[in-house]
Amino acid sequence: MIRNAREEDLDEIYKIEQKSFKIPYPRHYLKILLKIAPTYFLVAEEKGQILGYISGVTRLGKTGHIVSIAVDPAHRGKGIGKKLVNALLEKFKENGMKKARLEVRISNTAAINLYKKLGFNIEKRLKNYYPDGEDCYVMTKKLR
Ligand SMILES: CC(C)(COP(=O)(O)OP(=O)(O)OC[C@H]1O[C@@H](n2cnc3c(N)ncnc32)[C@H](O)[C@@H]1OP(=O)(O)O)[C@@H](O)C(=O)NCCC(=O)NCCS
Repeated sequence: MIRNAREEDLDEIYKIEQKSFKIPYPRHYLKILLKIAPTYFLVAEEKGQILGYISGVTRLGKTGHIVSIAVDPAHRGKGIGKKLVNALLEKFKENGMKKARLEVRISNTAAINLYKKLGFNIEKRLKNYYPDGEDCYVMTKKLR
C-alpha cells in the first residue's frame, strides 16, 4: 500500500535512507521535507512495515521535483520503486504540475533505468553536482 508518510514513520524511513545512500540525508532534513510538503512524502507499507519512501516538492506551481526515493535493499526489484514514483507523479498531476524533474548520479544505473521506464528523459548533465564531485543527470517528464 502506498500512503502519505507520518512523523512516526521517520525512524524507519531514516534507516532505509542510511542503508541506501553513500551520503544519506540527515534525519532532520527528512523531517523538514515531511513538514513542508506532506502531500508529496509517501511511503510503501506492507504488513505494518515501511519498505520504501519517496519525497517531492513543487516549484512555482508548475514543476514537481522528486527530492529523494529509496527502497529497503531487502525489498528491491519487486516494483516498489515504480509504484512510489507513479504515486508521486499522480499527486503532482492532481495538483496541476505540468512537469516532473529530478537529479540522479550518472553512475546510478538502477535509478536511471527506473526513471527511463516511467517516461523520464535526460535533459542535461551537471558537472560536480554532488559533494564527492560526481556529476548528475537532470531528468524530466511532461505530465498530462
Ligand atoms: C532506485 C531504487 C529506488 C529502485 O527501486 P526498486 O523497488 O528496486 O525498483 P523496481 O523494482 O520498481 O524497478 C523498476 C525498474 O527500475 C530498473 N531497475 C531497478 N533496479 C535495477 C537494477 N539493480 N539494475 C538495473 N535496473 C534496475 C528496471 O528498469 C526496473 O524495471 P524491471 O523490473 O521491469 O526491469 C532502488 O534501487 C534504491 O532504493 N536505490 C538506492 C537509493 C537510490 O539510488 N535512489 C535514487 C536516487 S536518485
